[in-house]
Amino acid sequence: MIQISVPATSANMGSGFDCMGIALSIRNVVDMELNDGIEITNKYGYDIPSDETNLIYRCAKQVFDICGRALPGLKIIEECNIPMTRGLGSSSACTVAGLLGANELLGRPLKEEDLINLAAIIEGHPDNSTPAIRGGFVAAMLENGKVWQVRVPISNRLKFCVFVPEFELKTEKARAALPETVPFHDAVFNLSRAALLAGSLVAGELHNIIVATDDILHQPYRFELIPQGKEVLEEAKRLGALGAYISGAGPSIVAIVDSVDLGFEKRVKNRFAEVLPEWQPVMLDCDEEGATVTKI
Ligand code: HSE
Repeated sequence: MIQISVPATSANMGSGFDCMGIALSIRNVVDMELNDGIEITNKYGYDIPSDETNLIYRCAKQVFDICGRALPGLKIIEECNIPMTRGLGSSSACTVAGLLGANELLGRPLKEEDLINLAAIIEGHPDNSTPAIRGGFVAAMLENGKVWQVRVPISNRLKFCVFVPEFELKTEKARAALPETVPFHDAVFNLSRAALLAGSLVAGELHNIIVATDDILHQPYRFELIPQGKEVLEEAKRLGALGAYISGAGPSIVAIVDSVDLGFEKRVKNRFAEVLPEWQPVMLDCDEEGATVTKI
């Protein structure tokens, strides 16, 4: 039996729409072994597909197909700790788990680069799937089936306060809310902030994050689908966050926090319990490890 562990990811980070993402310290853990048939269970009893339509299974099967090997079946035990359909990369984590698990079972015929490309092609969002594999902060883009990406070390002072609501928002719905074209001004607004964000995270110029996370390419449209989302973001900033943004396609909101601000967590928990009780915050770290595969 092997175990694949994949971190949550938070894409976009505000201005870095479709091109930046960061791995966060909660993980889906998947146990996998070859089996005569398909046997898929979930440790928490979630209602997940337990046949060949299961995402982890489908991704594993794709690796077997690419490598020209028959897949008799798989035993898969899922432990899903990443909230689903909340903009925290849960489907990327399942995609990556299937790909890395199958590659391990086959003796690692595919290189990391192949797996990064495959994950982005299947998932469609290299800004989630790439940091899920590599960990850390990643800029990534997909062109003609190849991911061009870079992982850069960022300031170790950063913490990430994640606000996860009870309701789901499907990525397709959040993408359907976006306009087909944007004014030149809006594109430049985001470009300048995305460049400032990446540079500031790396250089530790934390005072820039408040404007560098601003966005007008996707968040204004998506807030229409996220009741209280804008209030959550503004309240987090008012309470001292360095910046805040819709995580991926939403609905979760992430606030970037300076770890020297020791009172932030208590302040935010007390205030949110009072005014936005459906958005209880969870403090996470940047996950530096990325996806791992071990024998158990
Ligand atoms: N960049 C993608 C989006 C991420 O915002 O739609 C989806 O998880």
